[in-house]
Amino acid sequence: SASVSAVLYIFGATGDLAKRKLFPAIYALWREGYLKGNFAVVGLARRPRTDEQFRQDVYDSIREFARYKNEDGSEWASFADHFFYQSLDIHNLEGFRQLNETTERLERQFDIPGNRLFYLALAPELFGTVSRNLRGGGLLESSGWQRVVIEKPFGYDYESAERLNRELGEVFREEQIYRIDHYLGKEMVQNIEVVRFANAFFEPLWNNKYIANIQITLSETVGVEDRGGYYDHSGALRDMAQNHMLQMVTMMAMEPPSRLNPEAIRDEKVKVLRSIRRYSNADEVRANVVRGQYTAGSLKGVPVNGYRDEPNVAPDSVTETYFAAKVMVDNFRWAGVPFYIRTGKRLPTKTTEVVVEFKNVPENVHFARKTKLEPNLLVFRVNPLEGIYIKVNAKQPGSGWGIVPVAMDFCQSCQVGLNTPEAYERLIYDAARGDSTYFTRWDEVALAWKFIDRIADGWRESHDDLYFYPAGSWGPEAGHELLARDGFRWWPVH
Ligand code: BG6
Repeated sequence: SASVSAVLYIFGATGDLAKRKLFPAIYALWREGYLKGNFAVVGLARRPRTDEQFRQDVYDSIREFARYKNEDGSEWASFADHFFYQSLDIHNLEGFRQLNETTERLERQFDIPGNRLFYLALAPELFGTVSRNLRGGGLLESSGWQRVVIEKPFGYDYESAERLNRELGEVFREEQIYRIDHYLGKEMVQNIEVVRFANAFFEPLWNNKYIANIQITLSETVGVEDRGGYYDHSGALRDMAQNHMLQMVTMMAMEPPSRLNPEAIRDEKVKVLRSIRRYSNADEVRANVVRGQYTAGSLKGVPVNGYRDEPNVAPDSVTETYFAAKVMVDNFRWAGVPFYIRTGKRLPTKTTEVVVEFKNVPENVHFARKTKLEPNLLVFRVNPLEGIYIKVNAKQPGSGWGIVPVAMDFCQSCQVGLNTPEAYERLIYDAARGDSTYFTRWDEVALAWKFIDRIADGWRESHDDLYFYPAGSWGPEAGHELLARDGFRWWPVH
C-alpha cells in the first residue's frame, strides 16, 4: 500500500496512550512501509523536554510495547530523526504560532506537502481550546489537508457531547474530525462484515428466522488500576457500552451497504442505532439492564481489593464496574432477536467474543428421541485470541445414535509468523489517508448517547439494583437471569 506524507502532532505526548499505543503504532507503520522518509512527528505536552529526551521516551515505549521491537537497532536513528518535541501550554496562542513555524521548517526539511494530522490524546474539555488555538496559530492554513483525531470519552451524555461537537464544529468540518473507537480498528471486528457478507453459509441465515440471539461479551480481568478518578465518574456504561459495545452491535446488525465507502457504511450503522429500542422508564431499565460492582476477591489465586478500596474511588461509590443489557433492534431483520451485551472489570478472563446462536432445526423424531440438540453457534473471537469458530452437530462416533456438538476452529492469531496489526496502526493510517470508515460519525455518537442516557436516567432514581459481585466471578446472578428468563444462557467464553 501507499505510504502517507504528513506531520503528525501528538497532544498529550507524555501520557499513557502515547506511550502504550501511539508510538508503537507509528513505529509499526514505519516498519511496514506505510510511513517513509517524508513524515514528522511532533510531541506536545506541558512538561519541558528536549528532542533527544523525547526520542528516548519513544525508544523506551517501543522496547516495552511494540510488536516490532527494533531487535537489531539498525534503523533506529533514521526513524528517531523524524521526532520532535515542543513544550506547549495549550492556552497560550503564542505557543501555537511557534508550532506553526516549526511545522513549516519540518515540511521543508522532509518534503511534506502541508498535510497535518492533529491527534488529541487529551481530556475532552481541552478539545475546544486546542481547536481554536490551532486556527489562531495559523496551523490550519497549510496547502494540504488538516485533520483532527480525538479520543473518547466524547462527552458524558448527549448534552455534553453535543456541546463538545459544537465547539469542534466551529473550527473543523465533520469530514476533518476522526473520532476514535479503537474497537473498530481490531482485525476481528472488521472481519464481522466480511464473514457476514462474503459467505453463503451465513448471509442467508442472518435474520430473525434463523438466529435465536446474539451475545457480546467484553470481559476484563483488570480492575480500574490508576484510572479511578476517571472511571468512578464514568462507569462501565459510559466507558464501554456507549462506544465499543454498541459499535459491535451495529457491525452485527447493519444491512449490507450499497457501496464500500465510509458514508454508505456509516449510514447503515446509523440506521441500526436509530432502530435500537430505547427503554422508556426506570422499570424498563431495571428489567433489561443489570449493573454490578466488584468487591474484594481473587483472580487466578491472587487476592485483589474491592472497587471501593481502589485509589481515587469514593468509599461509598455506586459506580458500576459490570454492565449487562438486553438490547432489541426494532427493524424487519431483527424483530424478536435479543442482543445480549455484557462487560465488566475483574471478571475471570480477558476476552471479547461475539456469539451468534442459531435456532434449532425442526425436531426430527428419530434424532430428538435420542439426544437433546445443542444449537449451532458462530463465534467471533476478537481478543486476545483472534479467530472464528462454529459449533455443529455431528454423530457421536460408535455404534449408537448419539449426537455431539463439535467445534470447527479457525485461530487467526495462532498462525505462525502472522503478527496482526494493532488497532491503532490501522486507525492512524486510515486517518492519514482520509478513510473514516472505522471512525464514529457524529450522528452515531449522538444516537448512542440517547440510548445510554435513558439507562443513566433510570439508574439515578434509585441505586438498590446495584449488585455486588466478588472479583474473579462472572458478575452478579442477575446477569445470568437476564438470559435465563428468555430461555437462554451465556455461552462460555474461551
Ligand atoms: C478502553 C476503556 O476504551 O478500552 C478501558 O476505557 C478498557 O477501560 C479498554 O480497559 C479495553 O480495550 P482492549 O483493547 O484492551 O480490549
